[in-house]
Amino acid sequence: MHSRLLSLVALATLGHALPALRTPQCTDSIASLTVSTTNFDLSSGTPPPNATIPVSGTFDVHLRFCEPTVLVPSRAGTLQTLLHGGTYGVDYMDAGFEPETYSYVRYAAARGYATLNMDRIGYGASDHPDPMNVLQTPLDVATLAEIIRLSRAGRISGAHRGFDTIVGVGHSLGSVILNSLVAAEPQLLDAVVLTGYAHKLSDIDLPALSGMGPANLIGPARFGGLASDYLSTANASTRAAAFYGVEGSFDPAALAFDEAHKDTVALGEFLTSAAPIPAPKFTGDVLTVNGEDDLVACLEPGCANLKNEAQYYPSANSVDYAVIKNAGHSVNFHLAAQDLYAKIHAWLTQHGY
Ligand SMILES: *[C@@H]1O[C@H](CO)[C@@H](O)[C@H](O)[C@H]1NC(C)=O
Ligand SMILES: *[C@@H]1O[C@H](CO)[C@@H](O)[C@H](O)[C@H]1NC(C)=O
Repeated sequence: MHSRLLSLVALATLGHALPALRTPQCTDSIASLTVSTTNFDLSSGTPPPNATIPVSGTFDVHLRFCEPTVLVPSRAGTLQTLLHGGTYGVDYMDAGFEPETYSYVRYAAARGYATLNMDRIGYGASDHPDPMNVLQTPLDVATLAEIIRLSRAGRISGAHRGFDTIVGVGHSLGSVILNSLVAAEPQLLDAVVLTGYAHKLSDIDLPALSGMGPANLIGPARFGGLASDYLSTANASTRAAAFYGVEGSFDPAALAFDEAHKDTVALGEFLTSAAPIPAPKFTGDVLTVNGEDDLVACLEPGCANLKNEAQYYPSANSVDYAVIKNAGHSVNFHLAAQDLYAKIHAWLTQHGY
């Protein structure tokens, strides 16, 4: 069984990943970002229709800028900004586990793209503000907007240049934030790639399925210092039940790595992420891609619900969707990860990025 898995991985590597073997040159930094926005009043436990609570502050965010490993002149001014989802951190887009297969950053670097990966605010080495009243999706969106402005202005550590073309690539809650950003400030991004996402999500009880609970109880060694409204998934079994496809679609060692590196999600983010927000003024390109067995975002066989995504982007230059076979919600940790990366990069090339 194990050797069959290994040969599958070897085949996948031969098929797509040979140029991705070099390690990109990356710069980790802590950016101090001053942001202000309007959050929701969550005192009733659910968000009211409108945000009314002003919040502002200066927050440290861990950024990781990586140079391409292959020079493609037409992409010299292009940046892919990568946003992980809830209970993930910088590892989701740049796994330390078999990176030649699982690291999105390496795949992009080998095709001439610089990337800006990060621990979003409230994750990993970034600041952890109040997880109910401060860390909500409006704060995430305002923080991302500031990071994009700094990227265009040439003020990201290690980049030594500004970028005139920026593609946002998200997963799950990271995709929710990207969608909200192109709704609120449609000129900031040129294109968005939304994975593990649909405007209308399934009504499965994700907290129950994933065994969501206070992270400080689930993982006291790593999360003991966090407020109780920072949540995480219970264990590898519940994480696989919620985020992975069927047995055989992932290497158990990839799940073990993911479990060992899992992060938290703030209850305030979770509660403010459900509303399907249209982006009527976004004029760029939109791609939504899900694993066919994504319990969160594929509501119909073959993710046919993704056909409805176009209605949310009436001014977009293009709106497409794609489905990755043999994968669940967190495609980047599946054996099909390279299929996802290939699909995204073929789409980027096709649209001139
Ligand atoms: C919420 O915002 C919408 C649109 O901005 C507005 O029409 C509506 O009156 C607001 N509702 C409340 C309760 O303030
Ligand atoms: C994982 O967590 C779930 C939910 O808390 C629990 O029911 C189950 O027994 C746990 N499994 C293992 C292997 O610890």
